[in-house]
Amino acid sequence: MKFDTPADTNPIDRLRVVGQPHERIDGRMKVTGTAPYAYEHHDVAQNVAYGFVVGAAIAKGRVTRIDSAAARRAPGVLAIVTHENAGELGKGDKNTARLLGGPEVQHYHQALAVVVAESFEEARAAARLLDIAYESAGGAFDLAAAKDGAPDAPASGGTPTQTGAGDFEAAFAAAPVQIDQSYTTPDQSHAMMEPHASLAEWDGDRLTVWTSNQMIHWGATDLARTLNVAPDTVRIVSPFIGGGFGGKLFLRADALLAALGARAADRPVKVALSRPLIANNTTHRPATIQRIRIGTQSDGRITAIAHESWSGDLEGGQPEAATQQTRLLYAGANRMTSLKLAVLDLPEGNAMRAPGEAPGLMALEIAIDEAAERLGMDPVEFRILNDTQVDPEDPSRPFSQRRLAECFRRGAERFGWSARDARPAQQRDGRWMVGLGVASAFRNNMNMDSGARVRLGADGVVTVETDMTDIGTGSYTIIAQTAAEMMGLPLDRVQVTLGDSRFPVSAGSGGQWGANSSTAGVYAACAKLREAVARKLGFDPEAAEFADGAVRAGGREAPLAEAARDGEIVAEDTIEFAEKLSEEQQQSTFGAHFVEVGVDMATAEVRVRRMLAVCAAGRILNPLTARSQVIGAMTMGVGGALMEELAVDKRHGFFVNHDLAGYEVPVHADIPHQEVIFLDETDPTSSPMKAKGVGELGLCGVAAAIANAVHNATGVRVRDYPVTLDKLI
Ligand code: MOS
Repeated sequence: MKFDTPADTNPIDRLRVVGQPHERIDGRMKVTGTAPYAYEHHDVAQNVAYGFVVGAAIAKGRVTRIDSAAARRAPGVLAIVTHENAGELGKGDKNTARLLGGPEVQHYHQALAVVVAESFEEARAAARLLDIAYESAGGAFDLAAAKDGAPDAPASGGTPTQTGAGDFEAAFAAAPVQIDQSYTTPDQSHAMMEPHASLAEWDGDRLTVWTSNQMIHWGATDLARTLNVAPDTVRIVSPFIGGGFGGKLFLRADALLAALGARAADRPVKVALSRPLIANNTTHRPATIQRIRIGTQSDGRITAIAHESWSGDLEGGQPEAATQQTRLLYAGANRMTSLKLAVLDLPEGNAMRAPGEAPGLMALEIAIDEAAERLGMDPVEFRILNDTQVDPEDPSRPFSQRRLAECFRRGAERFGWSARDARPAQQRDGRWMVGLGVASAFRNNMNMDSGARVRLGADGVVTVETDMTDIGTGSYTIIAQTAAEMMGLPLDRVQVTLGDSRFPVSAGSGGQWGANSSTAGVYAACAKLREAVARKLGFDPEAAEFADGAVRAGGREAPLAEAARDGEIVAEDTIEFAEKLSEEQQQSTFGAHFVEVGVDMATAEVRVRRMLAVCAAGRILNPLTARSQVIGAMTMGVGGALMEELAVDKRHGFFVNHDLAGYEVPVHADIPHQEVIFLDETDPTSSPMKAKGVGELGLCGVAAAIANAVHNATGVRVRDYPVTLDKLI
């Protein structure tokens, strides 16, 4: 189904199942421990062996020798795979560094070997006996030092990295009120609960990998490329995923080394990346240095806005697109954005939840708060005054929907914003200095073509098959709701099977495009199934109504199951999004974050006391799962504001705090009252579902709202994340 004109009224609009707060259909499996994660597939393969990955102990240089004699003699060892015996490997499209390094080493903890043994313990013990000698080549590890002279980042995926309109420099120079500040955000790690893990089994030249991956088709394609085998010989299965946050968008070393280890040992092989390996072996969100200039008239109208951001990556890598939101969020005729990319020899930088906007808003939304403060304006009113209904770089493009101002008005009312004292450090609660902060949430809405197959059985059950993934987001549930709505069935008459490369290629889980795109694919497949069912039952497909387990038209009615009496009916389709729609109108998601913090008078410890998010993101397919997405994202925002930082060893080029003891994320005790409000909205330009994403939107702006609240509480303006107590004293 081609999606090239805004959606009309369709069966989804009935909202009998879609839009309802259904609990997750996989919830019971999750909480009873019966949903198998990648390392827990105990029953799919016999005689499984275990692989342990060895990472490079230098950041850049060469392996001069690998002596594996002692490791090979160790008890239980079945095989050791290194670059010397792995055979000719290709490289996937999606990773910058190779997943099996050597002799060249591109980053610290780049995988150099997998040791396969009868047990995990034997593999780990033998891995310690591998004797690897290196020749180190130094490297560049300090973004601040590499920043000067860093060139313009190359455009990627058609997105320019240098943009503008009007004459920023002249307008800024002429502006009566000017803000010119720099901000930094640190390297961050996805720190998902489930580590990267895979079980690989060869059957002749056919490979099956049970793994934990957000994007099945990308993973299968890149694994085939890396192994130099035909794509259709590789099957990837990833039905349940214990968090991804972008760290599992791409093929990683666990899957490749499980496949290589299994081939070498002639056994199925399981490989999990150990927690201390993950931060340096996999990808991370790159640190940024951002300079923001805002010029306004004395009435608060922005006349000039510029955002420059510097980040680093390995040679051939990509920038953290931290200026993305500044192109679209506020009005202003004279503007400029620029991304610069330095070469750093740290581990590979890549997408982490809301790549671009998350760190970009961490800076921009403090700068906006600073501008409001300078103007003596309320920060909510300042943002509303500078709202725009068109793309400010190209005013011929309207937003398809933009209710940012309404998010702020609703939120301000609900949160009690009017009680805030604009002067910092005025409010006390015992030993706590109390402050309120606010920030805009903004994230673009992307759509990805998405396919699904649906089967109607003689028992009247509809089964959905798609390679879509559920990374803890609720995909199973909203897909079931979509099929139930389309086919006129209750939710328990729909079965959903996900995460298998044998199923039609879906949008996958990334960039908050999963919910809208994958359900739109199911919508398309169900539209075909409805047509086939109607014809089979002798109804006019145009007139047939599907409701209550029956099909009705022209005064006649038949049970849905009747159509499958002599055999199941199968339909398959892919929703294809025409670029035209998203080019003519800007599709974005919006929100407002309100936060109350307390800062301890004596210790400067920061505690978040209350949080509210108001989101406008098209139709909310399931308010319960959407709320969970947003409160999870708000929690992640607390981490970004107050805790998360990969500490760079600038001598040796690695992240020092590479485990969950050193890399801090919030725990329950850190998270106070959280509330989420969704504006009632549909966006017919997004898909037949009229939905958008919320999973990344919920994170965008949170950290700045907290930093702004800390400023309101204390009068201290921290511009370098995380906002730790040493920066307040
Ligand atoms: Mo998201 S960072 O595209 O999983």
